[in-house]
Amino acid sequence: MSYESKLPDAQGRYAYSAEEDAVWGELFARQMDALQGHVAPEYLAGVRALGLTADKVPQIADVDAALARISGAGVEGVPAIIPPSQFFALLAQRKFPVATFLRRREHMDYIEEPDIFHEVFGHCPPLTDPAYCDFVERFGKTALALGKGYSWRMFRLFWFTVEFGMMRSEGGLRAFGAGIVSSPSELAHAVSGRAEMLDFDLMEVFRTPYRIDIVQPCYFVIESFDQLVAALDADVGAMIDEAKRLGDLPARFDAAA
Ligand SMILES: [Fe+2]
Repeated sequence: MSYESKLPDAQGRYAYSAEEDAVWGELFARQMDALQGHVAPEYLAGVRALGLTADKVPQIADVDAALARISGAGVEGVPAIIPPSQFFALLAQRKFPVATFLRRREHMDYIEEPDIFHEVFGHCPPLTDPAYCDFVERFGKTALALGKGYSWRMFRLFWFTVEFGMMRSEGGLRAFGAGIVSSPSELAHAVSGRAEMLDFDLMEVFRTPYRIDIVQPCYFVIESFDQLVAALDADVGAMIDEAKRLGDLPARFDAAA
């Protein structure tokens, strides 16, 4: 794929070319259009609150300042994939780690690594919601406290909520997970009626395998962000021990080649 992480200047600003601003603008306009009627109202409120537009690639520092003001959350530019302990530690401080490079035109529709469009357009709007931030913070703290042997199942929880979560709202099922919201193909699949929609259940999440390289065969549906916060009232360590003892539920996909 050959993407290089961008580094900030002394003022913490990242330089994006006119072509990169144009790519951002096209991605933004296309997804905002596709999301109509399919995305959680909390998400759209977040886009407005952050002042995200099609004009240009947003600056991490500006998004960070806005989140701090709105919900006490923030973002931190990271060079590449970071170790789980560092990832959980940032989340525990309500800081979301974000990649800063932007995809090139040949990857408009699909990119394997998360770029700044996925990170800011996908992840940041829900971070304006205090309950969602409480969940992210508690998730980070819980994962940190449990340590290595529990990370794998904790990543499943992250995957089926922060990345690929759906929620029930007045108009019907709506997406809030960044992997759906920021991806044309995932969104089309999620609203196609062909994917399984499962009521959110923490034990089931811990026992459900996923693949990162296919559209998701199933999604978990929450009632509200408060439900996610409350789910972490449980003795998560004991639940994961039990999930390990019970074993994984049958996969809804073929094993990766
Ligand atoms: Fe993500």
